[in-house]
Amino acid sequence: MIIAIDGPSGAGKSTLGKMLAKELGLLYLDTGAMYRAVGLAVLEKGINFDDNEKVSEIAADTNIELVGEPENQKVFLDERDVSAEIRTNAVGQAASIVSTISQVRKILVEHQRTLGENSEKGCVLDGRDIGTIIFPNADAKFFLTAKPEARARRRYEEDLNKAHITTYKETLAEINLRDKRDVSRADSPLTISEDAVVIDTSELDLREVFEQMMSVVRESQNAKSKTT
Ligand code: DC
Repeated sequence: MIIAIDGPSGAGKSTLGKMLAKELGLLYLDTGAMYRAVGLAVLEKGINFDDNEKVSEIAADTNIELVGEPENQKVFLDERDVSAEIRTNAVGQAASIVSTISQVRKILVEHQRTLGENSEKGCVLDGRDIGTIIFPNADAKFFLTAKPEARARRRYEEDLNKAHITTYKETLAEINLRDKRDVSRADSPLTISEDAVVIDTSELDLREVFEQMMSVVRESQNAKSKTT
């Protein structure tokens, strides 16, 4: 079973993706973490973000692995644990920039599709292009969204917990900048797949969203069992 979760940053995709993966015993794949790992590698190597060729080389030559159970998955970049480093705003912006480069997308999309296809029982993937590009035939597709202010508030609170020094205003500006880039890029911009279930999480608590998503998944499982 493949579950696709797309949407802008801070809409709750990763928290809910992990909850679903845990409940259903599926692999969880945070595809944004891979773009973040490439963004971090580019920053560390001091490469110019306009140099598409060099940035694509980095994406091709670095080894990115997601290891462990959904709730404490670690991200490794060439065998180094970068799970904390990739969560800063600077790396978020770097990820958003490298994700506009078609060659980078090609490499990561292939990697993500292979991981999903080879997963034993199936996979929950969260990102921007899961239901539109990576798995257009996913068994269940969600598009989670929320007002920018609600998303910035959540991100800001997460950052405070992780001791990242920032202000709400800065976080809102970062989110707006990243949203703008993610929806306006030429290759695979963030769009809502026609058959995705859209949930606005601004006013809902996680448990309510989780229940809604589980009922869609159960419907899809039932429909599948009837046809097989
Ligand atoms: O989900 P996230 O905020 O960690 O993602 C970081 C950036 O990576 C995001 O701004 C856009 C990009 N991204 C993408 O283009 N496609 C994906 N499937 C996942 C993330």
